[in-house]
Amino acid sequence: MRASSISTEDLPLQDEIDAVVTTALDQLKDVQLDALDDWRRSYLGRGGRLNALLRSIGSLPAAERPRAGQAANAARKKLGTALKQREAALSAEGEGDVEQIDVTIPGYRTNVGGLHPITRTLRDIARAFAPLGFRVVDTPEVEWDEYNFEKLNIPPDHPARDMWDTFFVKNEARPGAMLLRTHTSPAQIRVMEQIRPPVRVLAMGRCYRYEDVDATHESIFYQIEGLAIDSGITMSDLRGVLEYFARTMFGRDRKIRIRGSFFPFTEPSCEAEMSCHVCGGEGCRVCSGTGWIEILGAGMVHPDVLRGVGYDPDRYSGFAFGMGAERIAMLRYGIDDIRNFYRNDLRFLRQFN
Ligand code: PHE
Repeated sequence: MRASSISTEDLPLQDEIDAVVTTALDQLKDVQLDALDDWRRSYLGRGGRLNALLRSIGSLPAAERPRAGQAANAARKKLGTALKQREAALSAEGEGDVEQIDVTIPGYRTNVGGLHPITRTLRDIARAFAPLGFRVVDTPEVEWDEYNFEKLNIPPDHPARDMWDTFFVKNEARPGAMLLRTHTSPAQIRVMEQIRPPVRVLAMGRCYRYEDVDATHESIFYQIEGLAIDSGITMSDLRGVLEYFARTMFGRDRKIRIRGSFFPFTEPSCEAEMSCHVCGGEGCRVCSGTGWIEILGAGMVHPDVLRGVGYDPDRYSGFAFGMGAERIAMLRYGIDDIRNFYRNDLRFLRQFN
């Protein structure tokens, strides 16, 4: 630019061009993003001030026209460059407003999930039985009447069905034959139909009953079923296994006592009670003053059930038991209302993690 300004001393129009450039650059300093285009049009546009000067070049003497044209073009370039710079500066400023990051501000705490107390309980129970050789199996929640009742020695219209009122599932092909299992005992049949003794399994999962819901009854709950079949298994094996379980879960001083009961698929049948883990047997609120807490139903697998799955009852015998996961969890954690488990109240659930 310097070279041309020296040699253009005597060029008419130069002063006018310089004046336009000076005003334009002066104005540009304050032009905001939304007014940039107006600025461009008034100086660089077709009807803008530089073009007006360029048009007047035609009236100059022919010898002076090229230099005047060069000067005008140099001015156009200068303004064009200045416009680009202003534009870049303005948009960088704008972005700055949006993306400003203060890395010193503390972050948001992320919520971390945890295991549900029933999941914990199921896992602990599986772990307690594992050293005795029990492995965990999974069988259907939606069952056939045949497996939930009939093969368990509970024929249609048998009064024992009153103990297990449930929800039926519509099945066009076999109306009335499909239901939500009322207990995990159908797993006994499903396992024995699949394998030969020795059998040692735990079946755990959700069960359903048509219940009058209260602090100790829910219509959806979890059960853990144990089954052991071999030659020479007796009721004292059942007792020993249950005592081992009670000690593992509730402390080494626990004792088991067994009382007669009735289930169609076991003979004899019993209810197992554990010496109270809160008072140690003295009698307290948790054990209703008796010193004993009922924890499950059990018995020796009925010979008819064994026969039904093709096991020879003269060769094989075994025991089965079924317990409620919620009940075990309530005893372990001191929970007084079963409904808490499925209310999804985080204040309750967080206590277990
Ligand atoms: N299935 C029985 C119930 O839900 C419990 C049980 C299981 C009893 C196994 C005996 C043997 O009540």
